[in-house]
Amino acid sequence: MKRIVLFASGSGSNVENIANYFKDNPLVTITSVFTNKRDAKVIDRCNRLNISALYFNKESFSKSDCLLSILKGMDPDLIILAGFLLKIPKNFVTAFPNKIVNIHPALLPKYGGKGMYGMNVHNAVKNNNETETGITIHYVNENYDEGAIIHQAKTTVTKEDSPENIAEKVHALEYEYFPKVIDQILSN
Ligand code: GAR
Repeated sequence: MKRIVLFASGSGSNVENIANYFKDNPLVTITSVFTNKRDAKVIDRCNRLNISALYFNKESFSKSDCLLSILKGMDPDLIILAGFLLKIPKNFVTAFPNKIVNIHPALLPKYGGKGMYGMNVHNAVKNNNETETGITIHYVNENYDEGAIIHQAKTTVTKEDSPENIAEKVHALEYEYFPKVIDQILSN
């Protein structure tokens, strides 16, 4: 049995999509979903999907070993960041080498780094008149959005696309590729 732990800060539509993808797979289980936002929509989704959702505050994450100890106890095969907005502390990266995977809603190295998340990314893509954007699934290291790239997928951006349209196109790519890439990593 492979164990996945997910981290999310917001809506959690990727969490739900990943949960649905693996729900009939007896070899993969979602141990828990961690969130740093007490009112995140992902918690409602987890309740509906019957997945344990755990809230933690920033201090237990970055200033103590509390969360790290809980996570180690879960012995996950993969830790997936699905719309998680805090920086992963160095001690987590060291404790789980090549086991933390993030999805970023752009074609890294473009539009990465601090402050580049969610609609900020799509607004920047629009403002720079990009003709394409996409997703990057990558391992996590100590620097924001800089770990080794596992998979990228592209979509076109037209002049007519609003930032919201761009977000929709990018989400569609995330739903299509993220669970499959997770599945592949777990089977390697
Ligand atoms: C996703 O588009 C994900 O790529 C992005 O947040 C969104 C979360 O959507 N992540 C980042 O921007 C990380 N830098 P969701 O909560 O509906 O899954």
